Amino acid sequence: MDVIKQIDALDGIASLRDCSIDLIIADPPYGLGKDYGNDSDKKPADEFLAWMEAWLRLAIPKLKDTGSLYIFTTWRYSPEIFVFLKKHMFMLNEIVWDRKVPSMGGSTRKFSSVHDTIGFFAKTQKYFFDIDEVRIPYDEETKKARSRSIFVGKKWLEVGYNPKDVWSVSRLHRIHGEREDHPTQKPLEIIERMIKASCPKGGIVLDPFAGSGTTVDACIRNDRRYVAFEINEAYVSIIKNRAGRIRELKESMLDFEGIRSHSGV
Ligand SMILES: C[S@@+](CC[C@H](N)C(=O)[O-])C[C@H]1O[C@@H](n2cnc3c(N)ncnc32)[C@H](O)[C@@H]1O
Repeated sequence: MDVIKQIDALDGIASLRDCSIDLIIADPPYGLGKDYGNDSDKKPADEFLAWMEAWLRLAIPKLKDTGSLYIFTTWRYSPEIFVFLKKHMFMLNEIVWDRKVPSMGGSTRKFSSVHDTIGFFAKTQKYFFDIDEVRIPYDEETKKARSRSIFVGKKWLEVGYNPKDVWSVSRLHRIHGEREDHPTQKPLEIIERMIKASCPKGGIVLDPFAGSGTTVDACIRNDRRYVAFEINEAYVSIIKNRAGRIRELKESMLDFEGIRSHSGV
């Protein structure tokens, strides 16, 4: 089941079967007034929070018992959103996405905010999580530096360490090769980590606010299925084009693999 559909997330989510989804990656408008070609991010605070609760109430039952949810938000609203979610799910992490913003001026009446907040929640304690898929290998120098006898033979030294809850990944600049024509596109590296850790191979990922299609891209690359909803028709075209390109890229890489294994290149 691979779906890319232009639809309001509330209607799209309501159309899904309960307990059918392995992972939800939700990157909704943050309530900060961004222009997504509509007024979806221009709600007053109370209305915004009521809307967040409304789609979350619909979405949570769609998860399998092994399912989980990552939700992107901002420090301005994460307290209210997390308090709500903790009543319905198990909170596993608050992940800080450090956008690696360079130090140039910034706020002078408070500290400059350079991170997004990501909530990681599970539907039940039986949630799927594969740490080996997302371990970060040590380089040879670090391995050598850990050569004291107490470290020798440690599995984590060989297979890599597990990512911590601060993820330092640069935001996408205009000139970045990955960049599509969308104002708040998320880096593929972040979405791939979520999918590899929290969705089994062949499982289904729901992205109710798909934007430029980063989740779709990551699912194709990593052999997961996807259900992507997006309200803006122009963004839906971007997602479909992107999906086509990534599929072609993947097929040509598989072709190359086929040649390689035969000729031994
Ligand atoms: C923060 S962006 C998502 C960016 C995406 N993660 C990416 O990497 O490109 C939020 C998206 O939600 C869409 N959106 C806003 N309200 C919506 C609604 N009610 N239903 C579906 N999509 C909506 C916006 O058009 C926007 O593209």
